[in-house]
Amino acid sequence: MAPIVIVGPPGAGKSTIAQLVAERIGLAVRDTDADVEAEQGVSVQDIFVEAGEARFRELEHAAVARALAEHDGIVSLGGGAPVHEDTRKLLREHRVVFLDVGLAQAAARVGMNSGRPLLLGNVRGQLKRLMDERRPVYLEVATTVIDTDALSPDEVADAVIAFV
Ligand code: S3P
Repeated sequence: MAPIVIVGPPGAGKSTIAQLVAERIGLAVRDTDADVEAEQGVSVQDIFVEAGEARFRELEHAAVARALAEHDGIVSLGGGAPVHEDTRKLLREHRVVFLDVGLAQAAARVGMNSGRPLLLGNVRGQLKRLMDERRPVYLEVATTVIDTDALSPDEVADAVIAFV
């Protein structure tokens, strides 16, 4: 089966939903942040600090390309992956679920102790800016959009499975 890709901003619940869907339908999950960390032997946060965001996006793009070529299950992307133009090109050829989420829920999930390098300082304000900037990008690559705000994780997983 061709992979199902999960996109959305930090706090959309991508990793949780990918795991739930995978368990229910007996598929495995690839997480591109985890792939980059395993390959580089350092955390995403450290890559941002030591090499910068542009370098991270290149590594992330390579990880997405590999995951899409090799993996038949669920592929969960980092929130900023579709910002990279070549990554968007790849995504256009795949089934992509955008987990849409409002600022309040996303901010609550991300919490004030986010280690995410793009959300340091004013977490809610930074998250709002990222979400506003990226919404058109998520919509561009999505083959389906799930409005997650009023749904439990199990209901979101059901909606993803219905799409499969
Ligand atoms: C990022 C989101 C993170 C991670 C990195 C950059 C972003 O993944 O890839 O910190 O640019 O939004 P999550 O969406 O899983 O937090």
